[in-house]
Amino acid sequence: MGSNATDTARLTVAVTGPTGTFGFGLMPLLQADDRVSRVVGVARRPFDPAEHGWTKLDYRRGDVRDQDALVDAFQGADVVVHLAFLIIGGSRETTRAINVDGTLNAFRAAAAAGARRFVYASSVAAYGFHRDNPVGMTEDWPVRPADRLFYAQEKAELEHLLQAESAAHPDLALYLLRPPIVLGPHVVGAKELLPGPLAPLARRLQGRIGRLPVPVPAFIPDVPVQFIHEDDVGTALLQCVVAAGPPGAYNIAGDGVLSAVDVARELGIVPLPLPAGPTHAAARALSRLPLLPSAAEWVEAASHPAVMDTTRAKSRLGWTPRFTGLEALRDTLRR
Ligand SMILES: NC(=O)c1ccc[n+]([C@@H]2O[C@H](COP(=O)([O-])OP(=O)(O)OC[C@H]3O[C@@H](n4cnc5c(N)ncnc54)[C@H](OP(=O)(O)O)[C@@H]3O)[C@@H](O)[C@H]2O)c1
Repeated sequence: MGSNATDTARLTVAVTGPTGTFGFGLMPLLQADDRVSRVVGVARRPFDPAEHGWTKLDYRRGDVRDQDALVDAFQGADVVVHLAFLIIGGSRETTRAINVDGTLNAFRAAAAAGARRFVYASSVAAYGFHRDNPVGMTEDWPVRPADRLFYAQEKAELEHLLQAESAAHPDLALYLLRPPIVLGPHVVGAKELLPGPLAPLARRLQGRIGRLPVPVPAFIPDVPVQFIHEDDVGTALLQCVVAAGPPGAYNIAGDGVLSAVDVARELGIVPLPLPAGPTHAAARALSRLPLLPSAAEWVEAASHPAVMDTTRAKSRLGWTPRFTGLEALRDTLRR
């Protein structure tokens, strides 16, 4: 089966981590798309696809640390979408085994099974929050490990490792998507990427409580931030699945850049803005503290604006986000 946009044969798609935020963005699209005949999903928890009407999905409980299980699950797959990841909560060893070894297992299993495309959810974090990162980064800007944030270090390392694997397997086309914080009705995972003190507030999104009942004043750093809606992540993944554009790395984000102050207002907080410069300096200083607990490493994400240019995904993949960043936030709070 070919790996270009004119490929009209019906696809078998294997997805690791179909039960997470990205999975809930992609699976309904695979279910609805006539170009896809069959979907195989692998994750650890018990899960019943029928409860969601995902009749194409053959769900198997499995672990990405088990390469043989992946080779078995990927048999006959034209495309592998790798979403399984541990974002927070594991030890360094477990996190690395799932994220780094698991991703390499998935790529190698996809190659062994004869898949033609491998689609991986990277992150804006792969750019590393460096002071010289331009605002409005294009894909030509290098990915470089962050100084402190383990998640971001893994994302940069994995992009380099996957590029090396890809060079050794030229028949397996590599698509890398770099989204910012993902919002939507199924948000779980990386909301700690929200700037500075908004991270704990974002946990409110997890419970989908919505706005505070009465406005609460708080000092908020004026940090720019991009969001993307889970549905728009789904459509970007789908464009890669069907090879709507050439392989490669693609930045994706909802249109518009919000400030943390904008986000605070949406949460029902009366923002007392702190200027961006001192905020970034404070985040950099904090992130350099020795013996920083791992959860606090996320403060580095506020040490420099991480704002991407998404022109390439629009022009080459034909991807159009339906939600602006603000609409994605509002859609999450509404539920
Ligand atoms: N959410 C965001 O804001 C965001 C932003 C940028 C990039 N990303 C990236 O997008 C990808 C998907 O993120 P997400 O938000 O969908 O994550 P998520 O909601 O935490 O879901 C993770 C998925 O991976 C599965 N999984 C975890 N460990 C596994 C293992 N050992 N073996 C098999 N499956 C495993 C989980 O199911 P089980 O627990 O049942 O195994 C779940 O289906 C990740 O690479 C993440 O870094 C996310």
